[in-house]
Amino acid sequence: MNPETLLQVQNLSIEFGTSSGRLRALRGIDLEVPKGRIMGLVGESGCGKSTLAYSLSGLLAGNGEVSGGAILFDGADVTKMSDKELRDIRGRRVSMIFQDPMTALNPVITIGRQMLDIQYREPGTNAEKRARAARMLERVGIPDAAAQLGSYPHQFSGGMRQRVCIAMALLTKPDLLIADEPTTALDATLEVQIIELLRELQQEMDCAIVFVSHHLGTVAELCDDVTLMYAGEVVERGSVRDVFHNPAHPYTQALLECDPARMKVATRQLPTIPGMLPNLVDVPQGCIFASRCQHVWERCRSAHPHLSKTATVGHRAACHLLDAEGRT
Ligand SMILES: Nc1ncnc2c1ncn2[C@@H]1O[C@H](COP(=O)(O)OP(=O)(O)O)[C@@H](O)[C@H]1O
Ligand SMILES: [Mg+2]
Repeated sequence: MNPETLLQVQNLSIEFGTSSGRLRALRGIDLEVPKGRIMGLVGESGCGKSTLAYSLSGLLAGNGEVSGGAILFDGADVTKMSDKELRDIRGRRVSMIFQDPMTALNPVITIGRQMLDIQYREPGTNAEKRARAARMLERVGIPDAAAQLGSYPHQFSGGMRQRVCIAMALLTKPDLLIADEPTTALDATLEVQIIELLRELQQEMDCAIVFVSHHLGTVAELCDDVTLMYAGEVVERGSVRDVFHNPAHPYTQALLECDPARMKVATRQLPTIPGMLPNLVDVPQGCIFASRCQHVWERCRSAHPHLSKTATVGHRAACHLLDAEGRT
């Protein structure tokens, strides 16, 4: 493994037991996050972004199972860790922020107490830890931070609550921050503020971020690299610049065409990609995007495309059109 690699997901598959059979939520996921880089994880709702994001810190729903592959965090496989080892990396090295800040906050305990508790592994007295918590709240833009330590989560507005969660997530100076749609529930102005804050904090703390979003503009703003997911597979990945300027997969091209920020003609109705996600209990043969693809041809219905190189180093896409162009 490259020493600069913090996280490497290798051929990861995850299944959920459901009443209609085994749902193959993730299949053969490969990705890499270097130290200190920001990677965007993009795809329509139901593509498996949250399943992947949660599995990175060893969190999987009770009916979920890793059916293959590995998640190497600094070389150690998260999928093989004991509960104690998982608690250890979650407490020190990996932090998460969620779409709904209340997921991470306890409604009946003050912010100050929760920020103290999260530092239980850190050295120092309680007074020092409270001071550290207040400094962190100040850093994320909470006015009158020291006095706010005595407040309960419901006393903050939605945007302020997400700032509190960011402060808590970064208090342990993690190497990896996983953010699952942290701005989706906020209005556009707050979203911009939170993105700016994340970018500043990432530079100060030099942590890597996996940033999950279905909003392409936000990913373009914040991220260095981007991974596109469709129906439980990685269909394209590369630097934000390469993928957004030169999308190689028809799914990425279609998503970009649907992005309001890029639309050339004003319209009242947002365009969407026609068709639906395939049934993941009975995964179709061939390319997973074939039923919705404008460029579909015979091979797409029978053979599964691998992530192939494009003309640009580090930029890959899983599409038979690339093989057809002769670069594999
Ligand atoms: N606990 C679960 N049990 C059964 N199916 C699940 C569970 N969690 C997620 N899924 C299914 O896995 C797929 C991926 O879901 P998810 O990771 O939440 O997607 P996203 O975050 O991209 O919207 C979906 O088909 C979803 O219905
Ligand atoms: Mg999700």
